Amino acid sequence: MAISAPKGTRDFLPDEALFWQQFKATAAEVFGTYGYLPIETPALELTELFVRGIGEATDVVSKEMFTAISGENLKNWVENGRAPERKSRLSLRPEGTAGVVRAVVQHDLVPQGAAPAKLMYAGPMFRAENPQKGRQRQFNQVGVECLGAEEPTVDAEAIIMLMRFFQRVGIPSANMTLLLNSMGCEKCRPAYRDLVKAHLDAHSGELCDTCRTRAEINPLRAFDCKNESCAKVMEQAPKITDHLCDECKAHYETVKALLDGAGVAYVEDASLVRGLDYYTRTVFEVQTDAGLGSQNAIGGGGRYDKLAEEVGGRPTPGLGFALGFERCALALEALGVEMPQAQRLDLFVACVNDEMRAAAFGLVQAARDRGYKADMDHQHRSLKSQFKLADKLNAAKVAVLGPDEMAEGKCQLRDMASHEQLIIGFDEVVDTLGRALA
Ligand code: HAM
Repeated sequence: MAISAPKGTRDFLPDEALFWQQFKATAAEVFGTYGYLPIETPALELTELFVRGIGEATDVVSKEMFTAISGENLKNWVENGRAPERKSRLSLRPEGTAGVVRAVVQHDLVPQGAAPAKLMYAGPMFRAENPQKGRQRQFNQVGVECLGAEEPTVDAEAIIMLMRFFQRVGIPSANMTLLLNSMGCEKCRPAYRDLVKAHLDAHSGELCDTCRTRAEINPLRAFDCKNESCAKVMEQAPKITDHLCDECKAHYETVKALLDGAGVAYVEDASLVRGLDYYTRTVFEVQTDAGLGSQNAIGGGGRYDKLAEEVGGRPTPGLGFALGFERCALALEALGVEMPQAQRLDLFVACVNDEMRAAAFGLVQAARDRGYKADMDHQHRSLKSQFKLADKLNAAKVAVLGPDEMAEGKCQLRDMASHEQLIIGFDEVVDTLGRALA
């Protein structure tokens, strides 16, 4: 049987691969206007980074990470029952933030007193989730991280930039909801966490098994539970925004005022806790009503002022977000936004008979050397089939090389849209093409 792509992964065939390239280019352009520069970090990192950075009790780390194991270690494990040491284990990145923060710390990108590092990335992330529409095991994110500033202007600027980007790629504001919350800080959150735990303990009988365990290790995760009974219990849970310290309250109020000033609409959602443990203060998520069902979050992020210390760096506040390319593509499809067409060919060179092939080969090469997209048939097709191929490749012009004209150093140049035909010198084809396309 032929081998297919693994469950939860997808091929991007040329149309979608081109769309992904354009999507990344648009992100680089939009985020570039806010001062973000590209960074590339490895898809493989030490497992320890995600355990410490994202949190051992999160679903992402406890259940969904793909851990890589070398052939030699696997053999050793199977044959001798010796699992590789945890310290040396590698995992495929489930998200980009931990790796970027690790790189910032490792390369000291934000020395004391420096301006913040504004970094953007785009690439595949891996989570062993149960695949469904909008939820894959390998998916692509575009993300940004701003490290070195804790001011609320950074939060507001990033949120405004994210909303501008979504609009720019074709998702109208009317189809998006921006959810906003503050998660507090290490000063106010522990007391709040205890209040949520007490609330969960008081309703223990109404909770699912997972939430009963969550009450012990990570009570705030119960806000994410989809179980109806748990959701009811959490509706009555204490709200973090009623328990913020004065600094967190002031920070949150300023973020909201800046968004109001920029005309960016948001909905405050005290149950928004996000699935990763590193968040402090501002958290946000963008959901869409366009064709995604339950997997309706197209992007999300927040502040993580303690993450750099968590991975061994000096205190460096940070904020960022990531958006899911595949979910955006599904939303755009549901909204009827056309994917860009594959780029058209400038010139197709057709041969009346096989004797013309050498000249055609040279002409195609000459056009390419001048920067035009050019191609020819490589499989001895009939002239009619060559025209069909030129049509399929969306060629602007077709040069037809026939023995009679070529004997006089001439050939035919046909415009595929207007069907206009010219007889021109064989040596003039590329110049004529250049003038016509200019
Ligand atoms: P996240 O909310 O886990 O945040 O993921 C961001 C986006 O990635 C989601 O809103 C969704 O569009 C997409 N996504 C997540 N999981 C899947 C999946 N299994 N299949 C398809 N798309 C998916 C983060 O990853 C954080 N690192 C964001 C961040 C950056 N926070 C601070 N800086």
